Amino acid sequence: MLAVIGGTGLSEMRGFEPMGQKRVATPYSEQRVRVDLFQSRHGQFAFLPRHGKQHVIPPHRINYRANAWALHKLGVKQVVAINAVGGIHENLGPGAFAIPDQLIDYTYGRDATFFEDKLKSVTHITFTDPFSESLRQTLLNAVNAANLAMHGRRLVMDGGVYACMQGPRLETAAEIRKLRNDGCDLVGMTAMPEAALLRELEIDYAMLALSVNWAAGLYHEEISMEAIAGVIEGGMEFVMAVLQKLQDSSGV
Ligand code: HPA
Repeated sequence: MLAVIGGTGLSEMRGFEPMGQKRVATPYSEQRVRVDLFQSRHGQFAFLPRHGKQHVIPPHRINYRANAWALHKLGVKQVVAINAVGGIHENLGPGAFAIPDQLIDYTYGRDATFFEDKLKSVTHITFTDPFSESLRQTLLNAVNAANLAMHGRRLVMDGGVYACMQGPRLETAAEIRKLRNDGCDLVGMTAMPEAALLRELEIDYAMLALSVNWAAGLYHEEISMEAIAGVIEGGMEFVMAVLQKLQDSSGV
């Protein structure tokens, strides 16, 4: 089964038939993890808004392990994440999308592995390619199909390096200059440890990232939360079209 992990701006699935919800017990959370199920033409898919339904859980407080475990327990084999990000690459101005193929983890103090207690032996996953190339291609096809149907309105970058910062504050201008020197193209706060935990559970992972602002210091005006909200609203319409196309493609 495919799951969609929704980020900022995507706490609800519009346009799909709801099929109820599961509350999944995990060893990593006192509370059960709520996962919503939806019907598409090709079967069911799961939906998990990582900031909670009410958008109240900040990036560093998300229980990434409980979320990943709950999806695993439901039999999820592929995850498409939707992330709002800041754009660093010149093609990633507000409203543009990216499907990154690499990431750098700058977070700290997050529970980032399942492999630490009661081990039979020390375990290291390989993480050379943090995103699944086949799922990335499937997502890219869905994006292209949605773009075609919507008259090519959206710029979409195939690939790119995602910088995962700790947050919840935005970056300083000097931090963004450093990230650019590090080779980063987009910056967000939630792909890690999400990607690594899913890899530990052998779940394929790909991300559709929406740039909602130029990263700090790249534009002469202050980053405005109102402007971001406007970009998110417009962008999510396209995201829903992509998710429809994704469900229509037989690969998922
Ligand atoms: N930085 C980090 N995370 C973000 C940003 C940003 O500029 N915009 C949206 N998420």
